Amino acid sequence: MNDDLQKRIQEALANPQNMGELADADAVGTVGNSDCGEMLRLWVKFKQQDGRKVIDRATFQSFGCETAIAVASLATELIRGKTAEEALALQTGELAGELGPLPPMKIHCAQLVEGALRSALNPAVESAGQPATQPTSPQTAAAPTLLESFSKPQAGGVKIQFLD
Ligand code: FES
Repeated sequence: MNDDLQKRIQEALANPQNMGELADADAVGTVGNSDCGEMLRLWVKFKQQDGRKVIDRATFQSFGCETAIAVASLATELIRGKTAEEALALQTGELAGELGPLPPMKIHCAQLVEGALRSALNPAVESAGQPATQPTSPQTAAAPTLLESFSKPQAGGVKIQFLD
């Protein structure tokens, strides 16, 4: 990774925007990358503006990679004021915003953010006629944080037994 890009990532990380859970979110999306173990969850809240349902606020939680955190920080700012359809139309490179083009080995970091965004917004697109205050998913309000997902065993999940 070149020094310029590293510097821009460090600048974004020095003042990350929109980190943390959004308690009253209308939609939530989670993705994981099995290659590097990175996970990212994104919350979205809508509002009505000039007769359009637009993104009022988006926040994220992430484990791991600095590039994914920097992209998520920039992307959550970028999608404010956009409809779900407009946000979904953004390309991976556009979500990276001021970071500029990412090297091939870091493109999947931005794709992780894109994946979380798609996971959160696709139900919103399907229910675009609904009022902004109506949650798009009944699970949204009860969505666990990423930390809770890792620290609490899932009911009915797979039991792992270690061999001697
Ligand atoms: Fe895998 Fe960044 S290194 S998401």
